[in-house]
Amino acid sequence: MSKDTSVLLEEDRVFKPHYTIVEEAHIKNWEAEIEKGKDHEKYWEEKARMFDWFKKWDMVLDESNKPFYKWFVNGKTNMTHNAVDRWIETDKRNQVAILYVNERGEERKLTYYELHREVNRTANVLKRLGIRKGDAVAMYLPMCPELVISMLACAKIGAVHSVIYSGLSVGALVERLNDAKAKIIITADGTYRRGKVIKLKPIVDEAILQCPTIETTVVVKHTDIEIEMSDISGREMLFDKLIEGEDDECETEEMDAEDPLFILYTSGSTGKPKGVLHTTGGYMVGVASTLQMTFDIHNGDLWWCTADIGWITGHSYVVYGPLLLGTTTLLYEGAPDYPDPGVWWSIVERYGVTKFYTAPTAIRHLMRFGDKHPRKYNLKSLKILGTVGEPTNPEAWIWYYKNIGRERCPIIDTWWQTETGMHLIAPLPVTPLKPGSVTKPLPGIEADIVDENGKPVPLGKGGFLVIKKPWPAMFRTLFNDEERYINVYWKQIPGGVYTAGDMARKDEDGYIWIQGRSDDVLNIAGHRIGTAEVESVFVAHPAVAEAAVIGKEDPIKGEVIKAFLILKKGHQLNAALIEELKRHLRHELGPVAVIGEMVQVEQLPKTRSGKIMRRILRAREEGRDPGDTSTLEE
Ligand code: WTA
Repeated sequence: MSKDTSVLLEEDRVFKPHYTIVEEAHIKNWEAEIEKGKDHEKYWEEKARMFDWFKKWDMVLDESNKPFYKWFVNGKTNMTHNAVDRWIETDKRNQVAILYVNERGEERKLTYYELHREVNRTANVLKRLGIRKGDAVAMYLPMCPELVISMLACAKIGAVHSVIYSGLSVGALVERLNDAKAKIIITADGTYRRGKVIKLKPIVDEAILQCPTIETTVVVKHTDIEIEMSDISGREMLFDKLIEGEDDECETEEMDAEDPLFILYTSGSTGKPKGVLHTTGGYMVGVASTLQMTFDIHNGDLWWCTADIGWITGHSYVVYGPLLLGTTTLLYEGAPDYPDPGVWWSIVERYGVTKFYTAPTAIRHLMRFGDKHPRKYNLKSLKILGTVGEPTNPEAWIWYYKNIGRERCPIIDTWWQTETGMHLIAPLPVTPLKPGSVTKPLPGIEADIVDENGKPVPLGKGGFLVIKKPWPAMFRTLFNDEERYINVYWKQIPGGVYTAGDMARKDEDGYIWIQGRSDDVLNIAGHRIGTAEVESVFVAHPAVAEAAVIGKEDPIKGEVIKAFLILKKGHQLNAALIEELKRHLRHELGPVAVIGEMVQVEQLPKTRSGKIMRRILRAREEGRDPGDTSTLEE
């Protein structure tokens, strides 16, 4: 891993919680809660009781067919019923569920009652378009209420949503739509970004030429740009037109706890993205109860998670978690530094945000502009801050703690993954914190750091992070690829444990420090992207013969791409070709694939079986000894 973890190794400051946090906390004794969580099935069963079930489960956890675990066996429920519909029978009926704000300062509020109506109307539309239980519906939308409404509409009728991050582009879209065999794609004209409108529909138009399963494109008119609609009737429709006059009541589909809720694609160490499949009951229990634990949600909270809904953080903690707890979730469409780097803090001040959750890369980015921006705003409403996506370096942690949290707010550094669905390793608000450490596994979770034989490594030593017991919101398989599910996650290390793909170490207090990925996956500004994925896009360009990609340290984004390219005869890596390759990558993968450097080479280090040894490139890059090179080709 290229990240500089030496800074982390020296960090030994401990921050105790402010008394106001302890006073308010639902869980005041962290250690005692961890003890309670050791009775693991009972612990999660207790959590499941906070929801409505149409039929209670017969068994909490079924381990008879490992690693295909089942939770809340034979329980019947519905996600949308629990996240939306049940609240309209309570005093939350007219409370704001979604507060949408964008970079133009426009806002839109939807109460639980209004959300309930919109979801029902959309669910009826989906049915009218032929969607049935189990069908896949894709969404390629910006951060907007219609995205949340569409996801909940799917859940209401048992359709499976597949949200594709709107920063991904044509190539990524084609692959994901075809893998999920989506029948409908819901998109928008465009999205606001730094004073401009980025068009989305043309990307969908181009992609679906290669996606035979897509029957209908539904277009949300979100911005003020003109869009071209195709004249083939029935193939393209406007969201607003479809909804108009639609019945606002819709029958709730009774779902088995193990019925699929969504597929979300993430990068692995091969070129093909992994379709992570999450199901209904366990996911519901897991995301809501972890959010409750880590951010101590109360009535009256205003919750803001800045992640895009196109990633797991958005699914679990912008949409489902907060709504399942009946809180208000803020949806922000825009960049953190536009119109100026104080925009987030102005929103905190204006609306009185109480709990705020973001990514270390955003903190590092805003830190560069100094404390003059946060200082302009009254941030007294903030109680708890959080981070996710990559290690938070102590410098960024302290900046966040001082300038945003004003030394009152704990920083909840949450470790988890698309696959885990929910937070697994994180402090509670009352936990003594060490900047840069994710502290300990949450109550009800058992994790360890082991060597390749599954033996725990000594304290202080780096090893593989594994999860030793199943947890409710765990993914159930990789869509269309059970073998990969078994091999990548459950066979790497003996003992039937879940291999996370991360390296970590434990200190003498049992606190865990995440060091980074152990596989060929890059983490660019908290976004996972596979080296093989990037390489295959490079070699698809006519000038490139072979490509190898590694991560290059970046002070803001954590990591960016460094590419070693062998070019075809007659090509030179000059400024024009560099620009062209950047454009090509952007077109195929979207802006997440940030290039730091490209170099032209004559040869790449390979094993005798022809695999690129990225490890050697990385070592050379960092001036380290490359280690064992016995399998290196002459
Ligand atoms: C990394 C995001 C350090 C890790 C929820 C993991 C982290 C990958 C942290 C999952 C953290 C996530 N500290 N590293 N608090 N949280 N990671 O699937 O490498 O997009 O395996 O899920 O991000 O990324 P994913």
